Amino acid sequence: MEENVKEDAGKEEDSRKAKNLTFGQIAIANKFATPEQVLEAVLIQKKMKQMGLVPKKIGEIMVEKGYMTQVQADNIFRIQGREGGHKQIEGYRLISKLGEGSMGAVFQAKQLSMDRIVAIKVLSPRLQRNQKFVERFMREARAVAKLNHINIISGIDVGESNGISYFAMEYVNGPTLMSILKRGGAIDEKRALNIAVQVARALEHACKHGLVHRDIKPDNIMISKDGTAKLCDLGLAREAGEGGSATTEHGASIGTPNYISPEQARGDPDIDIRSDIYSLGATLFHMVTGRSPYSGSAAVVMTKHISEEPPDASEINHEVSSEASALIKTMMAKDRKGRYQNPTVLIEDMELIIKGKPMRGPGVKGNESAVMAKIEEEEYAEPEILVEPLGEGEEEGGEEEGEEGEGGDSKSSHPKRKHRRRGRRIRRRR
Ligand SMILES: Nc1ncnc2c1ncn2[C@@H]1O[C@H](COP(=O)(O)OP(=O)(O)O)[C@@H](O)[C@H]1O
Ligand SMILES: [Mg+2]
Repeated sequence: MEENVKEDAGKEEDSRKAKNLTFGQIAIANKFATPEQVLEAVLIQKKMKQMGLVPKKIGEIMVEKGYMTQVQADNIFRIQGREGGHKQIEGYRLISKLGEGSMGAVFQAKQLSMDRIVAIKVLSPRLQRNQKFVERFMREARAVAKLNHINIISGIDVGESNGISYFAMEYVNGPTLMSILKRGGAIDEKRALNIAVQVARALEHACKHGLVHRDIKPDNIMISKDGTAKLCDLGLAREAGEGGSATTEHGASIGTPNYISPEQARGDPDIDIRSDIYSLGATLFHMVTGRSPYSGSAAVVMTKHISEEPPDASEINHEVSSEASALIKTMMAKDRKGRYQNPTVLIEDMELIIKGKPMRGPGVKGNESAVMAKIEEEEYAEPEILVEPLGEGEEEGGEEEGEEGEGGDSKSSHPKRKHRRRGRRIRRRR
């Protein structure tokens, strides 16, 4: 591999002179085309740039116009040492630039074999030389490949072509959430929750596959024309507990810290799904208020995420319900133990608010559903242990407020209530 890189570098050096001659100059010198024809192609290329399209290469235009043959054009490319020119990705035809992120640019492209429109992320040439970024790029593709969910962009293909790493994925016809917020400010609470709950479902799916996204923010959420939210940019996604902090790894190129969790801002290594829940909370805050929770320089914002309580969303925008405001507060608890412990319980509460019903709070279902399932099994098999395991100092009823709102039935006679309470005790003791 490394040898290849060196060899390519040598080739590049040799052909520098030839590259400095434009395609048109070589074409004219070889009498493949007239100066007028070249000029016309240059003007067409310019116009494409002005229209925001990825300009076709002069050679391509000349061939299309019938001013030279494909063989002649390929010969010139070869003389230039370009092997078909820059930004050429085999099997795809780039159409226009869709966006730019920290890793490179994303283009709309046609996948020639399938005759369909896709989005293709191309690692920037600057980062291409750094193996670490190439690996991160591949990691994104692998993370996406693990997943299959309506609210997560699906992967199509990953590879390297002409020394460029690329990742082809499902094309989303619609804006990013960030551009919606930039354009219109705060969005209606119901609509905001509807977007957030879709992202929470994406997180639930990722969590089931052991993945943490680690970069949840409005730039990485796209809204398709039919209103479906699509989580994208899994470039920082990791297996839960895999370590490596996003901040240090990503270095100076890290984007906005506006939605970063306290533990990620601190550079903690054991980041789990609760960090994504925090960032989704900060994103929801932005949706309903029209601004991110904290302002200031990047360093100040990071510090505030670590140590300053976020404002109440309903104080900034009086139209925000107290329920939504409370939900955001819980999602953004500084201590991750105070947040919704997994996306499933979060989704339940989001759906309850959307339906206008009272929320349950983060603690009802508990941390690990697997543990809870076990407890349930045990209890139904041997109900008599129910009375026994209440430890000393744990007085009845003290911590049960969170369970209100489910109807006023007598607490202790209801078997479901019993096991739920017991589940909480067990959790508290862990
Ligand atoms: N699948 C897609 N379909 C359409 N546009 C996309 C797609 N993926 C990304 N984009 C656009 O490209 C931008 C950068 O993509 P992203 O995956 O966030 O890259 P980065 O890792 O460089 O931040 C997005 O904000 C969005 O505007
Ligand atoms: Mg991004």
